Amino acid sequence: MCGIVGYVGERDCTEVLLNALSKLEYRGYDSAGIAVFEEGKISVQKAKGELKNLRNKLEEDHKPEGHCGIGHTRWATHGEPSDINSHPHGSKRVSIVHNGIIENYKDIKKFLIGKGYSFVSETDTETVAKLLDYYYNGDPVDAIIKTLSDIRGAYALGIIFKDFPNKIFAVRKDSPLIIGVGDEENFIASDVPAILQYTRKYYLLEENEIATIMEDRVEFCDIHKQEIIKEVNISDLDMDAAEKGGYEHFMLKEIHEQPTAVKTTIAPRIVEGMPNLSECGITEETLKNYRKVFIVACGTAMHAGMVGKYVIERLARCEVTVDIASEFRYRNPIVTPQDLVIVVSQSGETADTKAALHLAHEKGAKVLAIVNVKGSSIAREADMVIYTHAGPEISVASTKAFSVQMAVMYLLAFEMAYAKGEISKERCMELTKKLSDIPELIEKTMECADKCQYVASKLITASSLLYIGRGLDYTLSMEGSLKLKEISYIHSESYAAGELKHGTISLVTDEMPVISVATQEDLLEKMVSNIEEVKSRGAYTITVCKENMEFSEGIMDEIIEVPAVEDVLMPMVTVVPLQLIAYYTTVLKGLNVDKPRNLAKSVTVE
Ligand code: F6R
Repeated sequence: MCGIVGYVGERDCTEVLLNALSKLEYRGYDSAGIAVFEEGKISVQKAKGELKNLRNKLEEDHKPEGHCGIGHTRWATHGEPSDINSHPHGSKRVSIVHNGIIENYKDIKKFLIGKGYSFVSETDTETVAKLLDYYYNGDPVDAIIKTLSDIRGAYALGIIFKDFPNKIFAVRKDSPLIIGVGDEENFIASDVPAILQYTRKYYLLEENEIATIMEDRVEFCDIHKQEIIKEVNISDLDMDAAEKGGYEHFMLKEIHEQPTAVKTTIAPRIVEGMPNLSECGITEETLKNYRKVFIVACGTAMHAGMVGKYVIERLARCEVTVDIASEFRYRNPIVTPQDLVIVVSQSGETADTKAALHLAHEKGAKVLAIVNVKGSSIAREADMVIYTHAGPEISVASTKAFSVQMAVMYLLAFEMAYAKGEISKERCMELTKKLSDIPELIEKTMECADKCQYVASKLITASSLLYIGRGLDYTLSMEGSLKLKEISYIHSESYAAGELKHGTISLVTDEMPVISVATQEDLLEKMVSNIEEVKSRGAYTITVCKENMEFSEGIMDEIIEVPAVEDVLMPMVTVVPLQLIAYYTTVLKGLNVDKPRNLAKSVTVE
């Protein structure tokens, strides 16, 4: 989604803004722009498309020279991607960059038109810029406070006023923003990676705190202009982790990072062979008393939640409901203070997941967040947090974050099952040991890469695919299908295998490949029947199954074997070929693996 940067200091501001924006490219965007103070004027340059288009425009047209400015990568919400709709927006006196959505922008626009303002773009952001201009009477903070009282919605704003050529102003609500602290230079950014090349020190801006960023200091106040003193944080984010490190794409690198990510996530949470989540505020005592568990998330994170449901219900015998966050928030769910709501999010900033967390709190439930990005909004607002230690995930398609989310679900399920007396200590230790062995097995699963590449070569001409599975394999087939469609643009559906004959099997022909996930031994016979059904209707069948399985001849066109572990843990290895199939299909189609069209890494709007 949109990215914000800002700089004030001695360096060439335009270069700093472009460098910083390049570190946010992975979030997904469709245009970019900067506003830099140059000889007392605000010089604005914008371009539709990739950051390199903006760079070219600056070279060909005019590259502002200055030491204070703001920049933005935009992911269109109001108005198509275009030069005009790109940020920054403003007037002669003010220029802003904005992440989020202003819900009442139409009313504000109408009001401002009545006051004689005219608008050039279709964006909600321009109304905020013009409203700031309307309220500005020489004091930027006054104008910001008045503007905040009028606007409704989510925002992170970087603002410059023509009269203050050495200052950036920043404020946020429901969208993240940090202030980077350098030596005689300071920054703003929507995400830490943007500033890491310059500094590791940063302030977290809280809701409706107003920051004034100058070269030598940063001042904070609240909306009553009362000064706020804040503590500086130090980021421990690994810069190299945000580079491709010899891999052709971030997605492939992140697939290969899964063994390490899983190990780093689970190792500190295993004490004397037993799962131990006490450092995250979770104890056996609390785990055994919940009436019900809700798991709420979006996309891939929701699929990890579905794995969690199967495992918690199977082992801990506690009822679990999994909800898509955008549905949960509007369905008035029956959540009580006796329930545990688990929100799962790689970014920790997903708007719908955050809203689900707020709803759970309103209903008096405790919220446990499983989050990858440290200090993100969801992590800060939840009652308990289990951080996944996957490191930065840059590719839009989530891979390693999914594996670590599942790993945490297992630890939680084992501990809950033991706390509730559903499994013995020996069994809990046995399962925990098997989970500890998983990283090595994921490594071994990578050996199927060549086979996946071959299968991908058979899929590139398909216009539609089916993924089928039963039980845990069904959740994995959902993840495999999502991964393929989001990056290769090949339509695919995932179906519970037993549901096929209730309608969807009419689609199956020799033009519809079917990928079956068949790793659950108690469901294997049924799965084989379902595969036979699609095979007899002409489908090209690809089956992901445990190693050394024997099947009758002529049913499976391709078999991809993964190491055998206890059924309940199979998703941890099964996901690898599904990710690799999606990856290689996309590479063979010559598409942009890491930045698929229309998608953003962090979905901070509804
Ligand atoms: C798919 C994908 C998305 C995210 C979803 C939630 O590959 O990455 O489906 O899983 O947008 O994002 P987070 O986990 O950041 O809340």
